Amino acid sequence: MILSQDEMRALDINARYLGVAEETLMENAGRAVAEEVLRRFGTEAKAVVLCGHGNNGGDGLVAARYLAEAGMEVRVYLVREPASELTARMLAELRSTGMVKVLKYRGRLSEADVLVDALLGTGVRGEVREPYRSVIAEVNRFAGYVVSVDLPSGMNESGGGYRVEPDLVVTLHAMKRGLENLPCVVRDIGIPEEAGRYVGPGDVAVSVWKRSRDSHKGENGRVLIVGGSTEYHGAPVLAALGAMRAGADLVLVAVPEAIEVPVRAASPEIILRPYSGQRLEAGAVDALLELAESADCVLLGPGLGEHEKTLDAVRHMLRELEVPCVLDASALAAARGAALPEGSVLTPHAGEFRKITGTSLPREVGLRAEAVQRLARRRRAVVLLKGRVDVIASPGRVKLNRTGSPGMTKGGTGDVLAGVVASFIAQGCGSFEAACCAAFLCGLAGETLERRRGYGFSAAELAEALPEAVLSSLEF
Ligand SMILES: NC(=O)c1ccc[n+]([C@@H]2O[C@H](COP(=O)([O-])OP(=O)(O)OC[C@H]3O[C@@H](n4cnc5c(N)ncnc54)[C@H](OP(=O)(O)O)[C@@H]3O)[C@@H](O)[C@H]2O)c1
Repeated sequence: MILSQDEMRALDINARYLGVAEETLMENAGRAVAEEVLRRFGTEAKAVVLCGHGNNGGDGLVAARYLAEAGMEVRVYLVREPASELTARMLAELRSTGMVKVLKYRGRLSEADVLVDALLGTGVRGEVREPYRSVIAEVNRFAGYVVSVDLPSGMNESGGGYRVEPDLVVTLHAMKRGLENLPCVVRDIGIPEEAGRYVGPGDVAVSVWKRSRDSHKGENGRVLIVGGSTEYHGAPVLAALGAMRAGADLVLVAVPEAIEVPVRAASPEIILRPYSGQRLEAGAVDALLELAESADCVLLGPGLGEHEKTLDAVRHMLRELEVPCVLDASALAAARGAALPEGSVLTPHAGEFRKITGTSLPREVGLRAEAVQRLARRRRAVVLLKGRVDVIASPGRVKLNRTGSPGMTKGGTGDVLAGVVASFIAQGCGSFEAACCAAFLCGLAGETLERRRGYGFSAAELAEALPEAVLSSLEF
């Protein structure tokens, strides 16, 4: 498994959410680096440890403490004062041992056999700036052996960048992008396997929370929702509320004109696009396809009903659409056998899964996940199976989600969820990540409502609770 910087950051946050203290990870990281140095050089060698101001520097400070405690002569150079409370604490702890000289880096390094490069790790963004640029140049003139902590300082995801040329990289938890051609050892630092298996706030932080402060109207997602019929006028409204509260700029809702009035009355934010008739039929398709041209994601299904002419119209749309689609409710059945636009997501519950595959889901979660992934592979799409534990699968990845509340079994919550998935895709999230984050955040919103109100909350209230769920997940 080779991780991107975002994937690593997500795991780190998810580990904290699962109760692993950041301090424990830093302690384990520093000790692992020291062990690799001691294994190669013993205690007679001299070491210099170069520390940056972030957590990579913190790992270096812990490594220096372990090296000194093992009996090595160690000198630490600080390029900038610690920026985080944790790194500052590690510096204080190192100083309190009295065994290590800690100096401010002033452009020169003392002689040593080994240099530990703990300047910059996964926190680097863009071209390396001063003072780190000059320090990296100095490290690359160093005559001894260079051990980089986690990543060679300055390295980007393609392995390039203005970076340290190490003799060894002690990389933490898993291989990272860009390290493929470098001498590496991977060391466990105590991130639990669950941090990657279950969706968590880290996934939200790296996938959803990415908006530019300079963006303007329409840049953060346009969703088109095609749903509703005389039987179900509420479903497209709930999906629209989900899409809006998940942050999409513009939400267009196309419904038959027979239900135009209640849908229009439901929210002033909905941009309504009615078409003639009682339900979706062939005559509306051309106008809807034209509307879809300006959408970033189309949600098909909520409340459409199962009339054969409606299912035909959905099939027709799927043949023509080029934007990613989220398919829910009757659109799932209509999509059987149809080619889906790239990046599409199917959102069945267990009953719908049985209907569209002809097979029942096993109870055991691992087997369930395999069955869901088989469908994802067959349909070349993302599948979000709703349940007590949600399963999110793409052809190459599977994650589970266990947030949620028994109060979410009521009608309409699936419409909200589908709207949230469409909203995140429209805002630029990958389809797999959108489905993962939507499941996690809707579940989190449900948990909050359950704590306040028991099981009596409505699907509309679930949508209204989403912004708070996003903010609370960013606290980790
Ligand atoms: N929980 C843990 O203890 C844990 C777990 C896993 C990994 N880690 C370690 O922590 C590292 C990540 O720590 P971190 O997120 O604090 O980041 P970092 O890699 O230590 O980088 C620290 C800082 O460098 C600055 N920076 C970013 N881009 C730069 C550039 N192009 N030129 C110059 N400076 C730049 C940024 O600060 P400014 O805001 O000043 O620009 C950034 O916050 C990992 O690589 C690993 O070593 C720790």
